[in-house]
Amino acid sequence: MNYNVAVIPGDGIGPEIVTEAMKVLDKVGAVYGHTFTYKKLLMGGASIDVHGVPLTEETLEEARHSDSVLLGAVGGNVGNSRWYDGPPQTRPEAGLLGIRKGLELFANIRPAWLYKELADACPLKKEIIGDGFDMVIMRELTGGLYFGERHTVTENGVRKATDTLVYDENEIRRIAVKAFEIARKRSGNLISVDKANVLDSSRLWRAVVNETAAEYPDVKVSHMLVDNAAMQLVMNPGQFDVVLTENMFGDILSDEASEITGSIGMLPSASLGKTKLGLYEPSHGSAPDIAGKDIANPLATILSAAMMLRYSFDLDEEADAVEAAVQQVLTDGYRTGDIYSEGCIKVGTKEMGSLVADRILIR
Ligand code: NAD
Ligand code: IPM
Ligand code: MN
Repeated sequence: MNYNVAVIPGDGIGPEIVTEAMKVLDKVGAVYGHTFTYKKLLMGGASIDVHGVPLTEETLEEARHSDSVLLGAVGGNVGNSRWYDGPPQTRPEAGLLGIRKGLELFANIRPAWLYKELADACPLKKEIIGDGFDMVIMRELTGGLYFGERHTVTENGVRKATDTLVYDENEIRRIAVKAFEIARKRSGNLISVDKANVLDSSRLWRAVVNETAAEYPDVKVSHMLVDNAAMQLVMNPGQFDVVLTENMFGDILSDEASEITGSIGMLPSASLGKTKLGLYEPSHGSAPDIAGKDIANPLATILSAAMMLRYSFDLDEEADAVEAAVQQVLTDGYRTGDIYSEGCIKVGTKEMGSLVADRILIR
């Protein structure tokens, strides 16, 4: 079977890591008898350079008509790049927000688990790590502060900036349903994270989550305030299974969760909507500080490609094979610099991609 994948390499390390994910997908194709046809698209700074805007209507249309989208990352050095000279809607990140909104990808799934081989790269103490952790952060992706009205004015010589946080109940319910569905297939534990002691939007969030819970009596739901959640993540990460939260809280908590897996270079993500079309990208950014040096960790992007196989193409066996290959590479002792610990074998981006591809087998 042929799958049409829109590939958006983006900026910084984006092209390097996406190349490795395609290498792995091609090996999956060769071993399992599929073809992946790639259509490269520009977004972010790369699109600004060519078209003057971070996302063109053509790119959005191409993405919409593909079977799925694989993305590296977009963005440059904020404050140190001409991509940031104009207003917010002309900057690289606006491309990313535009494609998420344009494809109605409201559910961002960011799984964070600790490979036992990476325990030394995890900054937490052994007694806190315990038996490790395995959680899924479900981040709402097309609402909240990211998409509310914003403006900056000067009143009586004083500059004033406003960002608004809006959620309606339907936006909350559709992500809650996805989270309950996922919780039902896992250990049946869902923690919804909000700031209901201060924000109206969080009080509505909590009410809608509780209403949705009535449909899922098999899922145990509890609520946690976001500041406490940030603390609990590094105090007792093993308590989390499915974490459901709004856009901004999910952005911040997923970076925190990624670091305790050993590196932000390990955390994959899938952004889904109502159809099979998904956007798959690592949770990290374009890392301009290490771009072009063949040192970026491609595993988050490779694991995102595995999520694509699972969620967009229903190729569970193939997705398992990619995840098993990543596990095997780590077991064999290979590490990029960000997850390196003594006694391991240090490899670059390209070698890491090849090592994973070499381990794709029919299981
Ligand atoms: P970042 O995630 O790019 O980098 C943070 C730190 O993690 C850096 O030290 C970087 O070198 C390191 N890092 C990130 N990915 C890595 C990898 N795969 N392997 C090894 N080390 C890795 O975050 P930032 O520096 O805050 O942002 C840089 C740019 O990326 C900004 O323009 C930002 O807007 C953009 N960004 C884009 C996305 C996206 O496209 N999804 C996500 C986050 C940030
Ligand atoms: C992410 C990124 C983006 C976000 C930025 C680049 C707009 O940090 O995907 O986590 O905040 O969603
Ligand atoms: Mn982020």
